[in-house]
Amino acid sequence: MKTQVAIVGAGPAGLMLAHLLHLADIESVIIEARSRSYVEGRIRAGVLEQGTVDLLNAIGVGERMRREGLLHQGIELGFAGKRHRIDMQQLTGQAVMVYGQHEVVKDLIRARLFAGEKIVFEADSVSIHDFANGSPLVRYEKDGMHHELNCDYIAGCDGFHGVCRPSVPTNALAVYERVYPFGWLGVLADAAPSQGELVYMNHANGFALFSMRSPTVTRLYLQCDPADDIAGWSDDRIWNELLCRFKCSDGWEPNVGRITQKSITPMRSFVTEPMQFGRLFLAGDAAHIVPPTGAKGMNLAIADARVLARALAEFYSAGSTARLGDYSQTCLRRIWKAQRFSWWMTSMLHQFPDASQFDRRRQIAELDYVTSSQIAARSLAENYVGLPMEDPDQWAG
Ligand code: FAD
Ligand code: PHB
Repeated sequence: MKTQVAIVGAGPAGLMLAHLLHLADIESVIIEARSRSYVEGRIRAGVLEQGTVDLLNAIGVGERMRREGLLHQGIELGFAGKRHRIDMQQLTGQAVMVYGQHEVVKDLIRARLFAGEKIVFEADSVSIHDFANGSPLVRYEKDGMHHELNCDYIAGCDGFHGVCRPSVPTNALAVYERVYPFGWLGVLADAAPSQGELVYMNHANGFALFSMRSPTVTRLYLQCDPADDIAGWSDDRIWNELLCRFKCSDGWEPNVGRITQKSITPMRSFVTEPMQFGRLFLAGDAAHIVPPTGAKGMNLAIADARVLARALAEFYSAGSTARLGDYSQTCLRRIWKAQRFSWWMTSMLHQFPDASQFDRRRQIAELDYVTSSQIAARSLAENYVGLPMEDPDQWAG
């Protein structure tokens, strides 16, 4: 089999890249290790930056998001038993959309299959070859049969645990990493959200986040030990801890309901540089990870896909590799700013095991400053709704 661009991974990065390439008349094949139902049911991120929303609308896959997504014009930061609103709309003129990552994935898969384009689900033993120069090749097995996909370029969109990044010679990539001494226990609950906006709560027991997925489903997170066994977190223990951490002087609390899903995610900041090796381009979590406190992971993955699609379109239409050569540099400017923001939000809101009383008071002062100074609040809001693209394209709103 032969194609122009072989895409490894059908997450937000791979699916968005495939759709943008299709719109530019560039052929691609997506090779995905998991089944369609698995990737469509995987609960992850939930906040779309304004630029991501504008892009989904501009490329014709935003219809369900416009109907079912929840537009949020502000967020709340809680500390010392009080919540404080950051009015993003007023501070930046922009908002975010709460719409689950798996819904974006469903919409993009539907659009791709409707266009008659190919996704190979449940591909086993995926490996990539000859991408340093020359003619790249992806090998995989499907239903016990061996397949080879020849291509001009490989897009490694296979997430943090994928095969693409580890296939690059280790001395060709620099890695910058910080592992945090905590994780997030995330739950989905059949409970109507008890208020309309997200609450990021700093509490002495640890961080908690109130979010939502629909008018009947609440999404909640608790800071926990990353080594915790989920079996040790009974539903009762989770609700007790959530209600304790969200306790506010005005009596607000999340509605309690049946927990339908729970899992623990470790937290890290990670960047690999460059994001290209020969004819292999890494995009999304394959190249970088942010702690989810800034809600940037999926948005960064989609921003990478956008930059890569434009660079490939320039190559196929004009024969120029200039944008492909700049791919890493263009993406990394945005990625490092998102890394800084995600690290800062994480540092401000979580309890660190080695923190002193000085650190604790400084953290509260920072929250007090951010929620009482318009200038500081505007900076947070500007980053939260999403910084402008470094390289605005035809889809820029
Ligand atoms: P992924 O979504 O990881 O997609 C990669 C795809 O590649 C997957 O479908 C995978 O099955 C496939 N794949 C992997 N290996 C292979 C292989 N060898 N061959 C073929 N295919 C392969 N961000 C937030 O903002 N908020 C959150 O609450 C949040 N929660 C998260 C929870 C978890 C458990 C994880 C892992 C991430 C979370 N994130 C969150 C981050 C966000 O979901 C990611 O940044 C986003 O999924 C990145 O998209 P991607 O397309 O780069 O990678
Ligand atoms: C979510 O709704 O899953 C969510 C929201 C905001 C975050 C992280 C996750 O910062």
